[in-house]
Amino acid sequence: MKRILVIGAKGMLGGDLMGVLLSFFPNDEIFGWDIEEIDIQKEEDTVFKIEKLRPHIVINIAAYTDVDGCESNEEKAFAVNAEGARHVALAALRCQAKVVYLSTDYVFDGKKREPYLEGDPPHPLNVYGHSKWKGERYVQELVKDVLIIRTQWLYGKYGKNFVTSILRQASEKRVLSIVNDQIGSPTYTVDLAKAISTLIQFDARGIFHAANSDFCTWYTFGQAILKLSGMDKVKVIPISSKELARPAVRPSYSVFNCQKLKKETSLTLRPWSEALKEYLSTYRPSTGRTGR
Ligand SMILES: NC(=O)c1ccc[n+]([C@@H]2O[C@H](COP(=O)([O-])OP(=O)(O)OC[C@H]3O[C@@H](n4cnc5c(N)ncnc54)[C@H](OP(=O)(O)O)[C@@H]3O)[C@@H](O)[C@H]2O)c1
Repeated sequence: MKRILVIGAKGMLGGDLMGVLLSFFPNDEIFGWDIEEIDIQKEEDTVFKIEKLRPHIVINIAAYTDVDGCESNEEKAFAVNAEGARHVALAALRCQAKVVYLSTDYVFDGKKREPYLEGDPPHPLNVYGHSKWKGERYVQELVKDVLIIRTQWLYGKYGKNFVTSILRQASEKRVLSIVNDQIGSPTYTVDLAKAISTLIQFDARGIFHAANSDFCTWYTFGQAILKLSGMDKVKVIPISSKELARPAVRPSYSVFNCQKLKKETSLTLRPWSEALKEYLSTYRPSTGRTGR
């Protein structure tokens, strides 16, 4: 029997990952910790608590994920996303555990204009991307059995996300302005949780890109959300990232090549539009953050 520890279990991905892990590994022990149980910024405490549990696999999905907030709070971004990852890796090293670390498309600058491969050189544009890339390097330096999964544009029922934001705004306004110069793949946390569990099942190592297939802009994604929710009377205006003027610069192109995932596990995540349809069929406005 294996002991699998998820850190960040009460976040958006964590809520779905806990359930999916239970279905993939019914005979193993799954532990879900979050900030109440462990603060990964604290080295000694993190190492002590993880070492006490002696897990075989540690899945670190705890992060400071407020991309704009990271710009004004660089110290916290690095303390959680980079140093926190190092503390978890140190503990895993002592227990000889496998480490699974979730990373992001924001490690890239988007200038490639064709789907990013795992081996492409990172060049983050914002603090969040820098902090996650540093986390990747710490984990790789410290632990031999490492699985890094880069993903993007997440939405799911256990957290506030782009879908919940569009639906909320559409219930309040007649016209929405949505950015139309960033391209990526919206990814449903249930599908990502299955990809993570599959990669663990295959004992995969190294870096993998995992996202729902096909790509779009936030504007196209927003239109699809409204249409599938029967709210397409709300007018949507395409705008540029410059017009939105958010603190963190985002890559204009962040599409992943997910062929490595397919080659090693035969898994391809379904198109984002299909996943969105399923998510919206179960969507209830009050469900944001109910996992907490
Ligand atoms: N969301 C996306 O679009 C996206 C895209 C690419 C990659 N990712 C990566 O995917 C993973 C999961 O993302 P998510 O959207 O599910 O994030 P999330 O909803 O923000 O969940 C992260 C969880 O970690 C907890 N946490 C924060 N600081 C912590 C600390 N010092 N010690 C322990 N726990 C801490 C958070 O608690 P609080 O809420 O109380 O802070 C939260 O419950 C992250 O590694 C993220 O970087 C996300």
